[in-house]
Order: sequence, then C-alpha cells, then structure tokens
Amino acid sequence: MISKWFDERLELQKFKDKFLNKAFPVHPTFLLGEVALFSFVTLVLSGIFLGLLYEPSTGKISLFGAMVPAAYASVVKIDLLPLGVIVRRIHHWSAMIMIASVIAHLARVYFTSAYRKPREINWLIGLGLLGITLGAAFTGYLLPYSQFSVTATSIAYYISKSVPWVGDWIARLLFAGEFPAHATVPRFFFLHVMVIPAVLVSLVGLHMLVLIKQKHTEPGANRKRKEARGGQRLIGIPVWPEQSYISVSLFFFLLFVVVLMATYIPLNPIETFGPPSPVTPVMRPDWYFLPIYGFLKLIPGDLSISIAGAKIGPEAIGGVFFPGILAFILVAIPFLDRASEAHNYIENPLHRPFMTSAGIAVAAFLFMTTVSGYIDVLHIAPASMAIYVVVVSAAAWVISYLLLRRYGRAVKKGEHVES
Ligand code: HEM
Repeated sequence: MISKWFDERLELQKFKDKFLNKAFPVHPTFLLGEVALFSFVTLVLSGIFLGLLYEPSTGKISLFGAMVPAAYASVVKIDLLPLGVIVRRIHHWSAMIMIASVIAHLARVYFTSAYRKPREINWLIGLGLLGITLGAAFTGYLLPYSQFSVTATSIAYYISKSVPWVGDWIARLLFAGEFPAHATVPRFFFLHVMVIPAVLVSLVGLHMLVLIKQKHTEPGANRKRKEARGGQRLIGIPVWPEQSYISVSLFFFLLFVVVLMATYIPLNPIETFGPPSPVTPVMRPDWYFLPIYGFLKLIPGDLSISIAGAKIGPEAIGGVFFPGILAFILVAIPFLDRASEAHNYIENPLHRPFMTSAGIAVAAFLFMTTVSGYIDVLHIAPASMAIYVVVVSAAAWVISYLLLRRYGRAVKKGEHVES
C-alpha cells in the first residue's frame, strides 16, 4: 500500500528494474571498496559528535589551573567524558580501517588488472580518493594540538616548504602562515570538516556512477567465456535483495569491530604529551606516512642540489620527489599496461609474472622504508639500511618473477594441480 503510493509518484519500479537488479560479483575481495565506504560513514557520524565539542582555536584558556590552547583543552575534555573518549577512539580506528581498506582495494584492483580498458578513469578517480583520504588523516592529526601532533605536523610543514620554487607559497597557503600560526588550526579544521568530506563525497559518487555504467569485472571468467555471453554481461547476485543483505551485515560487522577496538585500544594519551612546548619529543608519524618518514631518514642530511635557483635538499628528495614518483607510477599504470580491447574479467595474478612481481617489489620497498623509520631503535646506520632496502626489494622482484614464470610453464604443460 505504502510502496504503491510512492511508486505512483516516483516510479520506483523503474528504478528497481534499472539499478536494484544489477549484478554484483560474488567474491570477498570485492567487499574492500565497501569497507572503505562504510568506514567513511562511521567517520562522518562520529565526526559530527566530536565537532559539537571541539574548539578550533589556539587561544589560551585555563585547564586544571594551567593556560593551554583551547583546541588541546577541548580534546582533553572530550577524553574525560565516558562517551566522548569512545567516540574519539571510534573516529580514530575508523580512519585507520578506511586507509587500510583503500590501500587493500587498490592492491586488489592492481593485482587483478581491473585498471585496464575501460576502467582507467575509475583507477584515476580512485587515486584521487586515496590522496584525499590521506589528506583527511593529515589534517585531522593536528587538531588535538598536543605536543605530539604539532611536532608531527611541523615535519609536513618543512616538506611543503621544500617544494622547489613554489614551496614558501604552498606552505603559507596550506598552513595559513609560518607554522604554527594562529590561523593554522582553523584552516585545518575547515579543510578537515568541510572541504575534504565534500570532495570525498563527490569523488565517491563519481566512482560509483562510473562503476554502474561500466559494471564490475567478473571473477572466475575469462575472455572466451565473456565473449560467449556478449562481452559486458556479468554473472553475480542482484544488488537487491542478496547483495544488500551482505552489505548491511558487513556494515554492522564493521561497526562491531570498530566499537570493540575503541573499547580496548587506547589512543596516544594527549595528556601525557601535553600542549606544545619547546621540548620536541621523539616521535614517528602513523603507519601510512612511515615509508616517507623512513625514506627521509636514509638521505644524508647535507645532501643538496641547486637547480635554476632552487635548493633541493633531503626534505624535497624524501618528502616531495619520493611520493611524487610513486604517484606518477600509479597514474601511469593503466597507460603503460594498455589493452586494445575491453577487459571485463579479473585476471589471475599468477598468470601475470611481470606485473605481479613488480607489485610485490613495490610492497617490499614500502615495507623496508617503513622499517627504516625505526633505524634509531634498531641501531642500523642509514647507509647500511639503504643497501638492505635495495637488496630486499630487488630480491622480492626477481624471486617472485622467476617463481611465477615457472608456475606459468607448469600450467602450460598441464603439470599443476587444481582442487
Ligand atoms: C575512498 C576510497 C574508495 C572507495 C570508497 C571505493 C569504493 C569502491 C567500490 C564500493 C567499488 C565496487 C566494489 C569493488 O570492486 O571493490 C569500487 C570499484 C573500483 N575501484 Fe574503488 N574505491 C575507493 C578507492 C579506489 C582506489 C584508491 C582505486 C585505485 C587507484 C580504485 C579503483 C577502482 C576500480 C578500478 C574499480 C572497478 C573494479 C572492478 O570492476 O573490478 N578505487 N570502488
């Protein structure tokens, strides 16, 4: 009766026939994108609660008799509320899950070659989403305005300043003056709660529109089987009701995991670090920025090159060129590994020795640069660590390539066993 009333006005049946009957592939790795999406929903909901209590100002106010920045005081007060501390931890752990799932989703798309024609556009939109997700984490980091977050953000300030030719201008634009300026926290707050979520929502919408238009790649298929079914047709379960039940269950499972994490895993205790002071603590950034931090540690402090009036020092090499080259490689992948015809099935990574072993080598490189972030604790000299990084990454590439080639030959000869 109610659905008939709505149907007569909004033609819901047409919408149902067009979208809700669409097929969704049955494969667990296709849920990684949804994990990212649902973590974002949790982040928005917990963020709205935190936004009601947070004060984006560095003006001094009294907290337990000491004069501290208002932003810092407001976060200490949130931590003192029983629900406040849990929501703050939910926000933090959802962010970690979102970043990890976006990276895992990217790896799934890469290793199954789902970036190839016609999905190059969604690969590029996805890279924008990765950048903006990291931007959300970066701007959120400063907001508690503790000694810890100010020290971490100052590393990023010096990196932005080191961008050749335009560094000063970028640093002033992003940090609203010489960091830490009075306007830095309001600017980061504005970016964190307004600009970045708006861009993220728009890009996710675009990502989904392109996905609906192009359909998913199909697991368990190959070119012959797809062509026999007329190319683009996809076998899967309908979005309504089967996939929707799976998605809703996934959302609540994720919520359960994140609440469990928030209950038992505390965050950096900002009260222990205290408000910003001239004494700089020994600190490392969160895991997703550790490869950059570790790479910076490997570069000799006095290394400097001058090009057309610009001084290129360690910060620019480690903090600008290293992530820049990584980003350039990611952008170039679908255009280097080109396909003349549309690929609407997922490729078996074991059958693509070069691309799969290259991906493994990059993963090994990122792991080793992450370890480099701990050379002070491990008591390894930067020069020795740089050699380990190169040797391990190269070995990962060569060994995995040779193993996959051998596997490929065994498949051709019919020697492999499938169960
Ligand atoms: C906030 C970040 C992101 C969200 C919420 C998101 C969401 C999704 C969802 C729900 C799907 C459909 C299910 C699936 O194939 O897993 C999808 C597909 C896809 N995504 Fe993302 N994604 C994000 C970031 C990325 C990134 C970083 C890349 C790669 C650079 C990427 C590239 C793609 C591609 C190429 C597809 C189509 C895959 C296929 O048909 O096999 N996405 N995304």
